[in-house]
Amino acid sequence: MSSHKTVRRITAPGIAARKGGEPIVALTSYHAHTAKLADPHVDLLLVGDSVGMVLYGHGSTIPVTLEMMIVHGKVVAAATEHALVVVDMPFGSYEESPQQAFRNAARVMKETGCGAVKLEGGARMAETIRFLTGRGIPVMAHVGLTPQSVNALGGFFVQGREEAQWAAIEEDARAVAEAGAFCVVVEAVAEPLAARLTKSCPIPTIGIGASAACDGQILVMEDMLGLNPKPPKFVKTYAALGAAIESAIAGYSAEVKARAFPGPEHVYGMKKS
Ligand code: KIV
Repeated sequence: MSSHKTVRRITAPGIAARKGGEPIVALTSYHAHTAKLADPHVDLLLVGDSVGMVLYGHGSTIPVTLEMMIVHGKVVAAATEHALVVVDMPFGSYEESPQQAFRNAARVMKETGCGAVKLEGGARMAETIRFLTGRGIPVMAHVGLTPQSVNALGGFFVQGREEAQWAAIEEDARAVAEAGAFCVVVEAVAEPLAARLTKSCPIPTIGIGASAACDGQILVMEDMLGLNPKPPKFVKTYAALGAAIESAIAGYSAEVKARAFPGPEHVYGMKKS
């Protein structure tokens, strides 16, 4: 008898089937260590292009490249066995044509081992989503605030504050669902719209700064761990790791300076000659 534990990884159809059911728990992840810690507790790990802001210190996600996404996607997929790993398509890697999107998304799937890709945009990306899903690439869509359009939007603003804007955002969600997306991120959308959209949209909505009524929630892991000194207002922090790291480093620094640093001899011991 084998003592092997078989873990079945969550799939894109598995997430789609959760519409209206048990809430979907999602987090971003960019590296092996935190991905391993999160894996047993989440349904979906997104290797988001927020990596450009969080790890690389850029002011937006615009400078992120396909190569960066592949490096981070590969380590997260290799470090995990339970959660569905989704890799973001970065700005400029999919908008030109469905063919460009397929070429780059296929590369992401082959080189990272992820289970799906994410791309930003509603009705304007429906043709591309249909092209990808029709060729074996599961797509997570992203509507509302789409950070890759920050220069066109003029900033990172809540979407749908005016009721007059609701119809276009609802149409975006309907269009990506109709095109075959298995779920849709709804980012920074006025609460009543996010709740209404969740009712009308046939695929799971994954909220971020949207509504507790969404079918699931996603947060940037570093934000909820307290590693971002200026997290978005809607983020609840579940730990204060920034302060803990700083105090640990200060403690180490003080011990080194005081020559109180425990050298390896306290572990190895001394050999009697
Ligand atoms: O890039 C990212 O991390 C995202 C999430 C915030 C949804 O798109």
